[in-house]
Amino acid sequence: MEALYKKLLDGNREWVAKKLAEDPDYFTKLAKGQSPPLLWIGCSDSRVPANEIINAQPGEVFVHRNIANMVVHADMNMLSVLDFAVQVLMVKHVIVCGHYRCGGIQAALSNKQYGLIDNWLRNIKDVYRLHQQELDSIKDEQARANRLTELNVVKQVINLCKTSTIQNAWNERNYPHIHGWVYDIANGIIKDLNVSIKSNTDMSSIYWFDK
Ligand code: CO
Repeated sequence: MEALYKKLLDGNREWVAKKLAEDPDYFTKLAKGQSPPLLWIGCSDSRVPANEIINAQPGEVFVHRNIANMVVHADMNMLSVLDFAVQVLMVKHVIVCGHYRCGGIQAALSNKQYGLIDNWLRNIKDVYRLHQQELDSIKDEQARANRLTELNVVKQVINLCKTSTIQNAWNERNYPHIHGWVYDIANGIIKDLNVSIKSNTDMSSIYWFDK
């Protein structure tokens, strides 16, 4: 068997043994069900593993990841994860976590074609256009990409707030709170963008739904 492939399954057995050594009932407890307090929407980037960077255990985070941590309003996958997390699991917090040095952001900033993904990344180009004046004034390329990463997270936070799922939950129970974070791959630190939103009065009234 190919060495890398074998290493994955061996790694699983080692992990199981380690967990059982710490707590013989570890998997029995997990098998009973989940009630994570948090939905994480992050990037697919291999360097940004949701649980690991916030030191969370299995069972603590419900996760959705895609390229560049997008909340695209016609994305049935994202909407299904969101609705299940909010209406069934009743999560108290939804976190959109972007990251600096994101390949999706860098690709969106260029004029190169990368294939099918260009259609996905176009959503990021739209964010760029909305903030073009500010972004064009940043001369350093990395700094400009970092800022677009932050603005993109803020945009995805607002996109979440526009969903019927979030607004209905707010009307029913004043939760979840929506937050925007950016993870720095170069030092491991998460920056809170302080854009937490708890009700629809924080956005344009055209997006409000009646109770
Ligand atoms: Co990324």
